[in-house]
Amino acid sequence: MSTPIAPNCPKCGTIMTLRTAKKTGKNFWGCPMFPKCNGTVWINTYTPKPEIVKKDMPKNIVGSTQQTAIWHAVENAAYHIIVDALAGSGKTFTIVYALQFISSDKKVHLCAFNTDIADEIKSRIPDGFSASTMNSFAFSQVKNAMRVVFNKNKLYDILETLIPQKEKDTQFLTQAAYQLVNLVKSNLLDITQDKVLDDLCEKHSIEVNDSRNQVYNIARNAYKESIKQKGIVDYMDQVFFVYCFNLPVTQYDIFFGDEIQDWNPLQQHIMLRAIEHGGRFIGVGDRNQAIYGFSGADCNSIANLTDMLKKTKKTVESLPLTVTRRCPKSHVALAKAIVPSIEAMDNAIEGYVESMALDKAVSMIMPGNMGICRRNAPLISIAYKLIRDGKTVVVKGRNIGEGLISLINKLKPTDTSDLVAKAEAYRAKESEKLIAKGKKGENALESLNDKINTLIQFVDNNDDNSVNSVRRAIETMFSEQNVANAIVLSSVHRAKGLESEDVFIFEYDRIELKLTNPEFQAQERNLHYIALTRSKKNLYLVATSKNMD
Ligand SMILES: Nc1ncnc2c1ncn2[C@@H]1O[C@H](COP(=O)(O)OP(=O)(O)O)[C@@H](O)[C@H]1O
Ligand SMILES: [Mg+2]
Repeated sequence: MSTPIAPNCPKCGTIMTLRTAKKTGKNFWGCPMFPKCNGTVWINTYTPKPEIVKKDMPKNIVGSTQQTAIWHAVENAAYHIIVDALAGSGKTFTIVYALQFISSDKKVHLCAFNTDIADEIKSRIPDGFSASTMNSFAFSQVKNAMRVVFNKNKLYDILETLIPQKEKDTQFLTQAAYQLVNLVKSNLLDITQDKVLDDLCEKHSIEVNDSRNQVYNIARNAYKESIKQKGIVDYMDQVFFVYCFNLPVTQYDIFFGDEIQDWNPLQQHIMLRAIEHGGRFIGVGDRNQAIYGFSGADCNSIANLTDMLKKTKKTVESLPLTVTRRCPKSHVALAKAIVPSIEAMDNAIEGYVESMALDKAVSMIMPGNMGICRRNAPLISIAYKLIRDGKTVVVKGRNIGEGLISLINKLKPTDTSDLVAKAEAYRAKESEKLIAKGKKGENALESLNDKINTLIQFVDNNDDNSVNSVRRAIETMFSEQNVANAIVLSSVHRAKGLESEDVFIFEYDRIELKLTNPEFQAQERNLHYIALTRSKKNLYLVATSKNMD
């Protein structure tokens, strides 16, 4: 029997060793770091990742005029290329197919959006070219330079040691400090500046409440400690260490990037380092789909990236990719009001758009369909209606659930009516602070209201007055399990990258929040455009129901 390939330890990431249990004689994988780490994988529960099977590049491809222009520039030009693409326009396909036009003596790497896409690309690209996610690319640079083990809980472990156990509200402190440290790292910011942290809290609706200084101190200490712990990396440090320790980066003749509108400054930095000795960058992205994400990307990332590339020795050319392969003509007509350059394929289907009332939508929506909404609270109310009708529902957003539970823990309610009273008092107190901030606080104010309204939806739909059953309901609703054969409900933020034949946009009349801050308002328009471009066939625009407020 051949020796099976050893898995990585599920706890600390170290490559495991084959051991035999003394009592039962059964073989298992044990962590070589034992007794420090007791990670175990039983042999019969371990399935190795399938080997990547080589497939051929698709043959007889006829590129659109725009694709052909991009491939021509890849083959013949020497400048950097930014492909200004739109939703469903064949972004990934266009860069993968572009590899055919590059001679095999060139060193080429392609950065994919996620692991699944990276594996798919690896199976198709010619020998000698490489593909990975940005994380795995950066991590291999780290591993070349230093000895590290992976621990996805590194930052939580550090925060646990920094937050005194007697603190009543550790979960809330942990969450705020955790987000701040990661945002500072992904945006290459100076954590010592109060203003930097204030801005991050505002932009990402991080609640620090009365504990601003305490949260900032914890975040600063955690940041320092995470750099001190050189031998351990979490997902962020897999990338951040390259910047932080100025590690050498493998050089490429051409470095490709997909979905570059979502790259944060740290990821942009890594790419620039990979071409610093004269390489070319070719990236595709849709600047209209840039929304503030947890990873810390910002709405202007493509423009900022273009400016940085201009500082290299090569010029930057921008090429369009505006024909959507996903959306029918009717949906494109609506999306054009927001992004005028989007086009349907000549042979696209006409598609179907219908405006309807909530009751009709709730009775029509079926497993496999997607329901999206700008706010989360209405989705919970809809989810309960559907569940009562005996339908299976999945609501996207595990961290929304975590945020709600941490709020409940903070409020320490005795029963559900106490919970509602305390939540309303919390809303009143926090709103006042945010309103005082004017334009800068309006996004956070919307998030606060949505959060409290979401919590109240759970309480209203709960059968008894036990806080624990509300907690359980929240956990179950956001568990994201049983996605197959379920109706998928999602905020527009989380629907990015998803598609479905039938899409229901709930509260369509409120799809864009009315904000006065131009940066926030631009984001609202982007969200509107993302919502309109998820459907491949039927699009249902659902009006807000009067009794939903
Ligand atoms: N020139 C082409 N000929 C045939 N199929 C294409 C062509 N360009 C793109 N496609 C197909 O269109 C679909 C969407 O492309 P994809 O690259 O996944 O889009 P995006 O990355 O913009 O979401 C894929 O199934 C892809 O194979
Ligand atoms: Mg893609």
